[in-house]
Amino acid sequence: MTEAKKTAKLELDGETYELPVYSPTAGPDVIDIRKLFAQAKVFTYDPGFTSTASCDSTITFIDGVKGELLHRGYPIDQLAEKSHYLEVCYLLLYGELPSAAELEKFEQTITRHTMLHEQMQNFFRGFRRDAHPMAIMVGVVGAMSAFYHDSTDPNDRKQREIASHRLIAKMPTIAAWAYKYSIGQPFVYPRNDLDYASNFLRMCFAVPAEDYEVNPILSRAMDRIFTLHADHEQNASTSTVRLASSSGANPFACIAAGIACLWGPAHGGANQACLEMLEEIGTPDRIPEYIARAKDKEDPFRLMGFGHRVYKNFDPRATVMKQSADEVLELLGVENNPKLQVAKALEAEALADPYFAEKKLFPNVDFYSGIILEAMGFPTSMFTPIFALSRTVGWISQWEEQLDDPQLKIGRPRQLYQGETSRDYVEIENR
Ligand code: ACO
Repeated sequence: MTEAKKTAKLELDGETYELPVYSPTAGPDVIDIRKLFAQAKVFTYDPGFTSTASCDSTITFIDGVKGELLHRGYPIDQLAEKSHYLEVCYLLLYGELPSAAELEKFEQTITRHTMLHEQMQNFFRGFRRDAHPMAIMVGVVGAMSAFYHDSTDPNDRKQREIASHRLIAKMPTIAAWAYKYSIGQPFVYPRNDLDYASNFLRMCFAVPAEDYEVNPILSRAMDRIFTLHADHEQNASTSTVRLASSSGANPFACIAAGIACLWGPAHGGANQACLEMLEEIGTPDRIPEYIARAKDKEDPFRLMGFGHRVYKNFDPRATVMKQSADEVLELLGVENNPKLQVAKALEAEALADPYFAEKKLFPNVDFYSGIILEAMGFPTSMFTPIFALSRTVGWISQWEEQLDDPQLKIGRPRQLYQGETSRDYVEIENR
């Protein structure tokens, strides 16, 4: 923790309290209120954490006004263009870009951990065929703690590292098998001669009856989707992982908690919700009706894939994703796909509408990722699992960082209680 160079003053009931103010290496100053309750006997109120920093971190930084996303200081657009997912995983986990030898060793380690304990297949087979793959992922990842006992102790550094590698390595196998199970096809085992993204595509789309060749352009696009989703600061699912871990829970349980949180349509579920919305709109002539609904305060409908809590000018991931979408759709010859036509027209009409400009709402990464994934052949139900597998490294890096933090305490928010004060129990016959 840096030293406070200035203080903020809080005046309350005739008393003045001095609160330390820290200056981060980037981003706004942070007022330290940890001793506020002890000194002034008051809590602060910030549901949704819109003004609250929940931890110190050195991993990822977002400047929402500039539209900047940095991993360990490196801009996401440079990483998406010049690096690849496993190198970004190394960077997030260990803090620096690897040397060639370090990268080779890391890639080998991840590749060698991609198989699942054979008995885990019984878990998959226990689900209904129509189970959402996210439901399967929450269950199977949580169940990893019942299979990999030698890497569940968060107080043992070596065990932590093994758990990190296992999670990054096995998540594509888990996601692909959740998909295979849902369509009634045999599970496809990972292959060590393929890179991370190609291996995932093969496990999703190959069948034992035929050879399967991975298209390098699709594999590159897949890798880029993984890279663009690798980490994103203290978002809802990452904060969930940190909160779960603050009690000392094992890594697999913490990541399962993160997957559960990511599932919601306001977070990782937005790419599925966005594609479903494009399908529902159907044709560009219906767009004004949906824009009017999004603007109507009485209607809960929102334009899915639009808006972001932190980015208020543009989402730098969306810029790269849009470019990738153009490449992939051209390669696959589906530029005239009706959903894509609706997406393009919707983007143009919403961006030209003063409501969206005033509220700083513009397409986020999920607006384009769903379009690419659909063109690649993934059903909408697989969009969020792909996000979860990409984000696993971010969750794990933040989890590791938290466990090394000497200030770690169990996360335990306070509340503004608005309920009844103490009253006596009333017997049922007297109510
Ligand atoms: N469509 C229409 N109006 C919107 C939208 C939208 N997509 N998003 C926000 N607004 C409006 C709200 O109604 C609100 O209006 P008001 O000030 O008149 O009440 C204002 O913009 C601010 O919205 P909040 O919900 O307060 O903003 P918040 O920062 O809490 O929410 C969120 C961000 C959840 C992403 C929101 O924009 C949303 O629901 N978007 C659609 C879902 C989505 O795409 N999520 C993906 C996020 S990115 C990710 O997880 C990778």
